[in-house]
Amino acid sequence: MEAYLVDWLSLIVRWLHLITGIAWIGASFHFVWLDNSLQEPDEELKAKGVKGDLWAIHGGGIYHFSKYALAPPSWPVSLHWSKWEAYSTWITGTFLMIAVYYFQAQSYLVGPDNWISDSSIAVAASVAFLLGGLALYEVAIRSPLRKNEGLFAIGVALMLILLSWLATKLFSDRAVFLHVGALMGTIMAGNVFLGIIPIQKRFVAAIEAGRSPDAAEAAFAKQRSTFNNYFTLPVLFCMISNHYPFLYGHEWNWVILVAVMMITAYSRHFFNLRHRGIIKPMVLVQAFIGFLVLASWLGYERYEAQQALLSNQVGDDIVTAIVAKHCVNCHAVKPTQPGFAAAPGGLVLEDIGQLVQHGQQVQTAVSTGYMPLANMTGMTDEERTDLLAWIAQNKQP
Ligand code: HEC
Repeated sequence: MEAYLVDWLSLIVRWLHLITGIAWIGASFHFVWLDNSLQEPDEELKAKGVKGDLWAIHGGGIYHFSKYALAPPSWPVSLHWSKWEAYSTWITGTFLMIAVYYFQAQSYLVGPDNWISDSSIAVAASVAFLLGGLALYEVAIRSPLRKNEGLFAIGVALMLILLSWLATKLFSDRAVFLHVGALMGTIMAGNVFLGIIPIQKRFVAAIEAGRSPDAAEAAFAKQRSTFNNYFTLPVLFCMISNHYPFLYGHEWNWVILVAVMMITAYSRHFFNLRHRGIIKPMVLVQAFIGFLVLASWLGYERYEAQQALLSNQVGDDIVTAIVAKHCVNCHAVKPTQPGFAAAPGGLVLEDIGQLVQHGQQVQTAVSTGYMPLANMTGMTDEERTDLLAWIAQNKQP
């Protein structure tokens, strides 16, 4: 019963996280597009203090967006603040982190060869990782370093590289990409909560008091918002990375993560330039080549490892015994492992035909060390090699 309730709870929170995340990132994409696409307004609008405007058609109606240089001539009756999209994404994300990684820390957060083997210490390390990373970023963006945008971007990239490596030492492989993504999401929510919204509040207060708002501060809010925009694609990658053990379970997982983050942030640059009318398809071509290089390197390694396994001869009976001992407690129609109500991921491995059928998935999960989950059943390296050799020779092509 409990496992059943947890399944529903996890579904609802994950779904809410996705919905709020779409609203947030959608708003971010929309405003960056809008800001970069503004045109020179006509004289009449300029006289009213409009800096740029844009006409658009959507859903059967014509829209006219205009951005004021600072304050509008008269104050609007209602003003929409984009902040709850960000806050609710962060809050649902935090719930999800707690439900999956903190409540089930021994299975999901602690890895077999990490610095930390105790689940409560791992939870504390996860909280410290997220808050510490946020603090580092906030110190950097409040320092004079931010005035030099190029240097600041390099500083943030170096920080993320270092923290990606650190995450591989602290957390299980499955949790590494997710922690880097959660940290970037926390920094993004921090940009809104600690930077943009307070500046906007002072902006509005100044106008209401009849003072002229601080233009330099408004530009600072814009800078934070631009940073958030470059973070979006890498964060989305981290959030779906759980489906790809062949990446996060790789020996050089943090290098792969850094490479993907750089390639995706760089491809975001193409769109940001394009909104401003600068079309540089080479940016996308270079990003694509980056992915090809990464995929070829990983593919070659995989090919070599597979060739080595093809020479081992392992009998069906040996493999059946290995799977019965190490997988079937969870991967059965009725699992015997406490906490499991049904076969995880719908994957049943009770007979050898099912093993052949799901060979590719099993190969990835076992070769990366992801399965058996947290090596709870204590599978030996020899058993692992035997299972992999058998799969390499018998899986469905
Ligand atoms: C302690 C329980 C447990 C044991 C033991 C276990 N698994 Fe799993 N397995 C899981 C869970 C939970 C998931 C779903 C994990 C997720 O959602 O990331 C899973 C997922 C998988 C997947 C799908 C991974 C993917 O997302 O592509 C494969 C393949 C797999 N297991 C194979 C195996 C094999 C082979 C063994 C034995 C060598 C094994 N598992 C042992 C719990 C277990």
